[in-house]
Amino acid sequence: MKVTVVGAGAVGATCADNIARAALCEELVLLDIKEGIAEGKAIDMMQTATLLGFDTKIIGSTNDYSKTANSDIAVITSGLPRKPGMTREELIGINAGIVKGVAENILKFSPNVIFIIISNPMDTMTYLALKSTGLPKNRIIGMGGVLDSARFKYYLSTAMGCSPNDLQGFVAGGHGDTTMIPLTRLATYQGSPVSNYLDEATLKKVAADTMVGGATLTGLLGTSAWYAPGAACAALVKSIVKDEKKIFTCCVSLDGEYGQEDICIGVPVTLGKNGWEKIVDYKLNEEEQAAFNKSAAAVRSMNSVLSTL
Ligand code: 2OP
Repeated sequence: MKVTVVGAGAVGATCADNIARAALCEELVLLDIKEGIAEGKAIDMMQTATLLGFDTKIIGSTNDYSKTANSDIAVITSGLPRKPGMTREELIGINAGIVKGVAENILKFSPNVIFIIISNPMDTMTYLALKSTGLPKNRIIGMGGVLDSARFKYYLSTAMGCSPNDLQGFVAGGHGDTTMIPLTRLATYQGSPVSNYLDEATLKKVAADTMVGGATLTGLLGTSAWYAPGAACAALVKSIVKDEKKIFTCCVSLDGEYGQEDICIGVPVTLGKNGWEKIVDYKLNEEEQAAFNKSAAAVRSMNSVLSTL
């Protein structure tokens, strides 16, 4: 197995580090446009191999896509992260051109690649990658909902005083501060609805905190978060390379599922060796479906900006 991570910034490097430590592939390429940064971080990670006991071969490259040849998976994190007070959507003008160019360069050397898109605004960048590459839709996966779901479980665990690992919870819809939908009705504590333990007001606060979970960290850190995004992406890579068929909320292309088409947006899917393999119908209730439609409309409006760039 060979995985390429494009963008050796905090998110990309953390993602690569998680992949290497878990020995999810034999060869890992870290590529960046900035001179030396990918090489430096790759060597630094390789120097943890004897300390952490992995044999993944990590190679850094400054913009030489030939090094990425025959990648099974390519993770695109390149582009600008947001600054405090910015929305993810404000990055579209800069990041769209970067993501399009990166996807084309990867595809030149890896015709069978599965893409995982992280660059923001992620839903629209995923749609752009799908349209510009023309790849089968199952090979284009946007990483956002799995991160938002992890944040959702963090805030739920804080409210409940329990282990986040005893919780099941999913966030659907767009990966935006106002577009994501924490599915509180469906969240469970070891199979028991969390509404058995938290009142409505607390559940609403957990959902609200989840929606701005990324912005909260950007305010504290001065830039986008990286530990959870990096680990979230590595979880998707693991399910693909090990053909686990695990379920995650990922941004994928819909053809009528959840009442939407010609859009990429977060829904529960299973991930295996072919990329995303099945969209799971959570049977949203009327209120949730209305929120999903509103989220889709916001993502669609962002997608329409692409034609003006
Ligand atoms: C986040 O929410 C980077 O969009 C990502 O942290």
